[in-house]
Amino acid sequence: MSCLIGHGNPEVVKTITDHASQLDHLFSAMISPPVINLAKRLTGLLPEGLDKAMFLSTGAESNEAAIRLAKVFTGRWEIVGLGLGWHGMTSGALAAQYHHGRKGHGPQVSIFIRWFAKALLINNQIPGNLILPAPNAYRSVFSNSDCSHDWETELNYGWEMVDRASCGSLAAVIMEPILSSGGMLTLPPGYLKAMKAHCERRGMLLIIDEAQTGIGRCGDMFAIEHEDVVPDILTLSKTLGNGLPLSAVITSNHIADVAKKNGFLFITTHFNDPLPAAVGLKVLEIVERDNLVARSREMGVKLHAGLNKLMSRYGCIGDVRGRGLMAAVEIVADRKTKASAPELGQRLSMKMIELGLSANIVTLASFGGIFRIAPPITISEENLNMGLEIMELAFGATEGSMPLYK
Ligand SMILES: Cc1ncc(COP(=O)(O)O)c(C=O)c1O
Repeated sequence: MSCLIGHGNPEVVKTITDHASQLDHLFSAMISPPVINLAKRLTGLLPEGLDKAMFLSTGAESNEAAIRLAKVFTGRWEIVGLGLGWHGMTSGALAAQYHHGRKGHGPQVSIFIRWFAKALLINNQIPGNLILPAPNAYRSVFSNSDCSHDWETELNYGWEMVDRASCGSLAAVIMEPILSSGGMLTLPPGYLKAMKAHCERRGMLLIIDEAQTGIGRCGDMFAIEHEDVVPDILTLSKTLGNGLPLSAVITSNHIADVAKKNGFLFITTHFNDPLPAAVGLKVLEIVERDNLVARSREMGVKLHAGLNKLMSRYGCIGDVRGRGLMAAVEIVADRKTKASAPELGQRLSMKMIELGLSANIVTLASFGGIFRIAPPITISEENLNMGLEIMELAFGATEGSMPLYK
């Protein structure tokens, strides 16, 4: 997922080595050339309104900072997340993440409030976090008469619930443009525009988390381009550092200025570190120079064609989805009932590993029982075909895969 341009890329290795011998870390308030150049290059690639960047280490940190920025800018404190979204393990990010890992540690508030919340059996996370349904076209209960996904009713209904639950302090929505960990759910056309309109109507900010989709992974430099929406805050992580700990929070000059006046602070030891910034800069340079975004789009078409062919041959594949070099294969016990088949998924995964393909499936229900496929966007056609061939061999050799051919 993170290693966008491959492991051991010689140019990245050289950048790491050079910077390690010159300047790896600095006091965060001393802004070094790699940080300035990365900010310039990144904002130069983004539309107007995403003008100012700061750099942190992990995806969770970037979302934590984005959420705090939205709260300090708006002076409000309610955050809306999508069911099945993933934003990281720190308190604020996790509180907006409706996925595995929420339970068992209570709300992040004082002991008295925690006891009170427990006594009343209410919200087990930070107060002020609200949820909208995830747009899952394959499994949604909201459908049109032709059985297609009625995402507009689903979204409007969700907002009706949020408005009822809100105490009148709605600050921001945070969401991924493809809900990857939640089952690689792509957004229906028009969904993100409608979400932005909902936010604007309520004076809320829209935070888009492109930890996985950013920097060419899905066939656009950023997934927001595909949706033709400019969020108020954009976060990047995984792919920006090609697997090294580098994340970014990008927003408008206006939001940055107002938040600063309101006392916004987010600082860590590794905030604006030069070494990871130099790597991020190198990643952007390589992706642009080698036309890797177009390549990801082209190879993505081949990947999806191969996976769809597999679906036409094996009944245990309920759905194939994703975009560009970010794809998912959902394993089911029965296409009609769409019952999940974690055991079969596990056996298929073991078979693929035995045949030489690292293909893991997360069997926890909230991950959607899918194989998530995200090779480096530098992958050769030969390697891609080899991967697809191994998958086909594994499906053919695994009991319960339900071949549809003689
Ligand atoms: C979309 C998204 N946001 C945020 C995160 C959290 O990033 P990190 O694990 O670097 O904190 C992840 C991690 O999987 C992610 O997929």
